Amino acid sequence: KTIRLSEYTVPAHLVDTVDLRFELFDDGARIHSTLSVRRNPESADAAAPVTLDGDSLKLERVALNGEDLAAENYEETGEQLVIASVPDRFELTVVTWIEPQNNTRLEGLYKSSGMFCTQCEAEGFRCITYFPDRPDVMARYRTRIEADKASCPVLLSNGNAVERGDLENGRHFVTWEDPFPKPSYLFGLVAGDLVEQRDTFTTGSGRDIDLRIYVEPRNAEKCDHALASLKRAMRWDEENYGREYDLDIFMIVAVDDFNMGAMENKGLNIFNSSCVLASQDTATDLAFERIESIVAHEYFHNWSGNRVTCRDWFQLSLKEGFTVFRDSTFSADMGSPTVKRIEDATLLRTAQFAEDAGPMAHPVRPAAYMEISNFYTLTIYEKGAEVVRMIHTLLGPELFRKGSDLYFERHDGQAVTTDDFVKAMEDASGRDLSQFRLWYEQAGTPELMVSDSHDPEQGIYRLTIEQRIPDTPGQTDKKPQHIPFALGLLGPDGEALPLMQDGSADAEGAPVEQVLELTEARHTFEFHGLPSKPVPSLLRHFSAPVRVIYPWSRDQLVFLMSHDPDGFNRWDAGQRLAVDVIQSLVGAAEGAEIEPRLVEAYRALLGDSTLDQALVAKMLQLPSEAYLIELADSPDVAAIHHAREQVLQHLATSLREELIACYHRNSEAGKYELTPESIARRSLRNTALSWLLVINDETGRDLAVQQFRDADNMTDRMGALRALVNSDYAAERSAALEEFYKHFQDDPQVVEQWFSVQASSDRAGQLPQINALLEHSAFDWKNPNKIRSVVGVFAGQNLAAFHNPDGSGYAFLADQVCRLDDSNPQIAARLVTPLTRWKKFAPAYGSLMRESLERIRDKSGLSADLYEVVHKSLGS
Ligand code: ARG
Ligand code: ZN
Repeated sequence: KTIRLSEYTVPAHLVDTVDLRFELFDDGARIHSTLSVRRNPESADAAAPVTLDGDSLKLERVALNGEDLAAENYEETGEQLVIASVPDRFELTVVTWIEPQNNTRLEGLYKSSGMFCTQCEAEGFRCITYFPDRPDVMARYRTRIEADKASCPVLLSNGNAVERGDLENGRHFVTWEDPFPKPSYLFGLVAGDLVEQRDTFTTGSGRDIDLRIYVEPRNAEKCDHALASLKRAMRWDEENYGREYDLDIFMIVAVDDFNMGAMENKGLNIFNSSCVLASQDTATDLAFERIESIVAHEYFHNWSGNRVTCRDWFQLSLKEGFTVFRDSTFSADMGSPTVKRIEDATLLRTAQFAEDAGPMAHPVRPAAYMEISNFYTLTIYEKGAEVVRMIHTLLGPELFRKGSDLYFERHDGQAVTTDDFVKAMEDASGRDLSQFRLWYEQAGTPELMVSDSHDPEQGIYRLTIEQRIPDTPGQTDKKPQHIPFALGLLGPDGEALPLMQDGSADAEGAPVEQVLELTEARHTFEFHGLPSKPVPSLLRHFSAPVRVIYPWSRDQLVFLMSHDPDGFNRWDAGQRLAVDVIQSLVGAAEGAEIEPRLVEAYRALLGDSTLDQALVAKMLQLPSEAYLIELADSPDVAAIHHAREQVLQHLATSLREELIACYHRNSEAGKYELTPESIARRSLRNTALSWLLVINDETGRDLAVQQFRDADNMTDRMGALRALVNSDYAAERSAALEEFYKHFQDDPQVVEQWFSVQASSDRAGQLPQINALLEHSAFDWKNPNKIRSVVGVFAGQNLAAFHNPDGSGYAFLADQVCRLDDSNPQIAARLVTPLTRWKKFAPAYGSLMRESLERIRDKSGLSADLYEVVHKSLGS
């Protein structure tokens, strides 16, 4: 069934308060819910029945104003409870029985390592009780939890704890009250045997907030980083958005079995353990950064999502796009802004562009969906964040802040739309964003065809930019969008040239960087006072989520790599050069020459200690296979893999001395620190190590073995392990893998890394080995992280093995997807993604991919989640 934005109507009934009583037992849970309901004066249908959503519920009782309803007075369909005749205002009581211990979908109330926890976004609350489960129904919640005191000493829900006490039979209760009206998707509950780590935060206005992280006792030592990140995020939101926290207590709970990263339940954020727990010994630098950004993301939702929420799920990007923009700005402020921008742009260009070009392409504000869980996508999150970033660029920081202040003030306590957000930005700034709104409505990645010419006589440089937006499923003939295009021009010695757009401007007052605003299908810009042809620095800091097509020469790219004052574009020039070199080798004869300028550029980078080392570390990463595949038409995966490998080997061979020097220069002993400098050093030395092992260098091997043994932190230990796993030193590889597992087998987050490093390796992650990992005693089909770390990583990162020309990788994925669909459809629908891109690949691959998809389509009892993805990608 397809749900359409155009069919939105306001709810017929509103709920003012929700009174919940949870009786938690080993064999199930009984939920008593009492709602105060009233007719919505704004509803056109004044005689509408009360309609409540429900999923897999056993209904024990329905009562209206305290009187039990007889069966003929209500109707229970598979998905709804409908009561036809009701007064304008009434109290509705519903009692349901559910079995959290058997809930493998991990939606609603379920059990994870013995503890009760919830995930209600988007439509999980209906798996707990019958309720109008839509975000525009906002109510105040009071929640009483009753459970066995020994097994569940900790009982948590949203808001403030207002009452607690003992009950008979060794049971106890706690009652929570949340003063802020909220939609049901923000409801949260946790009950279990947990320890707490405490801290406090004093808000700008002087209120003391109690901060708590709840974890299983064995993880008590892994909360410091999350707590510190939380306090930084709280301060940052006050300073940058004027947003203070609003309850007296803020809680985070770590849960091992979780479908997503984390969830922003009001006052009670629930996290996937891997997104919150960290220690020097068990988490890599990347994990530390990820945790900081996710903790901030969920915290920021308290305003962008909770205080102001979404009217309906088509507006999901209202909270997600804005919140990702906020967390990404926060991370940029905490570390290197250039590196953060590179990471965001890489994700977008590799994965979101691929989504935009695939069968599930959808606008930032989709017009229709079948299963909303399938729309928690890179488009909604990351492209949505880019759209907000472009508003920030167009308005400038001051007006943007005025706009966000107005948005929060105007809509506090409301459920609103992306259009309301843009309207607030317009009203506060006086800018017309009507054309800009197309970013929310049109799917697909705009392509900018850039060409230029120079008139030496007149000193005029002309830049022509044409935009084109490709067709996507259900959308053709798109209108030009409003695109901020940041530009700089470089002179022959690398100097930044003044941008003089008309004859009157004089060089003195002219800027050296400018944001051109593209609104038409084609623009030509003229720049004056330029006796020689400049090198353009296009789309600086990735000022819009678009593809730029310009015929760069390799000379220009090498020039930009060392001269562009925009760090992002320096990196980008390096990537484009490497892409060009690798692409020219795809299908070329064996022994073809590899561009010497690439080697020299990398040599210069390795020796440059004046540049920001974090940027150097990024610049040394070759474009990923996934990105090269995304860029290609009908990619031949094996050929791309081979070409990239050749370039890597050639670079490593030519730069062996420099790599060894770089390794040592960045290894000088010192205390482990989590500063940008020391993170950059670890990154550089581990990159050097991995390159040396690509060419089976014995010095490299010895360094790796030694580093693996001596490492005092997970980044270095994992760096050495990864290098060995991806080398031909089979004996060292197995010894290290075995040693690592023995040491860390009791730590699930580390075991997940151990699975991933193998599943992503073309040496250690061929299908027989992957199957062996699935049989491993630490593998668990009920745990999404384990599934992702083996099956997800294999299909998403081990591309040569996944795209084995014999189709075995595809068949493998289809088998796992079918198997998972019965227990956890959300995970199954996500895991199938790589197969859905079958049309993109050379026919030899594509037809095998399609066959695997068809096999999934024909599975009996296909879930709604998987149905939507599979049918849309088969075009049926
Ligand atoms: N709102 C959460 C976040 O982005 C994600 C929850 C997604 N849940 C889901 N079932 N798709 O922070
Ligand atoms: Zn979010």
